[in-house]
Amino acid sequence: MATTTILKPARTLRAPPVNAPGNLKPYRPSKQLPDWLIEEARGTPKVDFDPAIHLKIQDPAQVYTMEQIGLAGEGISNTAASDPFSLFTPDAILQFRRELFSEAVLANSQYASAFATNMIRGYGPELAPFIFAAWHHPTVLAHISKIAGIELVPVLSWDVGHVNASVNDPGAARSRDEKLETDPDMCAYAWHRDSYPFVCVTMLSDCANMRGGETVMRTGDGGTVKVRGPTQGTAVIMQGRYIEHLALKAVGGRERISMVTSFRPKDAMAKDECVLTSIRPISEPNTLYSQFTSYRFKTLEERFRIMMERVQENRGKFDLQGVKDFLEEQKEYIDATMGELVEY
Ligand SMILES: [Fe+2]
Repeated sequence: MATTTILKPARTLRAPPVNAPGNLKPYRPSKQLPDWLIEEARGTPKVDFDPAIHLKIQDPAQVYTMEQIGLAGEGISNTAASDPFSLFTPDAILQFRRELFSEAVLANSQYASAFATNMIRGYGPELAPFIFAAWHHPTVLAHISKIAGIELVPVLSWDVGHVNASVNDPGAARSRDEKLETDPDMCAYAWHRDSYPFVCVTMLSDCANMRGGETVMRTGDGGTVKVRGPTQGTAVIMQGRYIEHLALKAVGGRERISMVTSFRPKDAMAKDECVLTSIRPISEPNTLYSQFTSYRFKTLEERFRIMMERVQENRGKFDLQGVKDFLEEQKEYIDATMGELVEY
């Protein structure tokens, strides 16, 4: 009987482990966001998401392939990362900020970790309908998927629009600026891999007076490639689960607020090596685990449905080895899922 490849692409290489911040449980920021930032954001009148007004879709100047950085065959597609590309208009950014700094979102959804002092995440579609409409709009998903070279969907609604906010107080900014003069490659996040296959990082701040903020990727031969960071309204994507990378510090400017949305393949039969290592310490366990297990169960349901149809279609020639390989892969997938459900 013929052996068939069940999952695509072929599962030859396993994703390496992911680093996590030192804290095991999530905690709230000790450093509060300044009033001027919040008041400015709340001054924007509320409107609903309208793709004709809020999207400005353009291609990146350049896309780096996995092949170009010496990682051919790894990951879920051949796209490693992109240069910044236009995604949202200035009006859309104002609406994002209006929702992010609203009273309800700040009361419920602020987090800090050993890696970052101020994050806003896990607010969900009820508290931020504009942000959710934007990230689930078919034009946005199609554009990101085109650049990624594979059809993508947001991993969990918990991780739609994760925000890293850093605000400069004048004294601190000066001392960081001075350090940057002597060490232009000071890093904000040390070498790591992400928990999810693809990230899309969108800039919500004016970067006119900012320097730094690039991402450095490690190539297959141990070298490095530096990718430009996004400017206001633009985004970059990167296959961060499979590429070791670090973020260089950005200096100058009043604030740096970036939004990270994480993606996984839409196709249930695609390789899925999402983990929660770096997500767990900055997430509320009940919501995270119920969303995570729901998506894994749906993926399994879809995989078994597809395989059932294949078996029924080929009643005359049962693919014994193919079915056994499929079941073996699902056992590993269930084991990997259980491995993520640790108590914390
Ligand atoms: Fe990362």
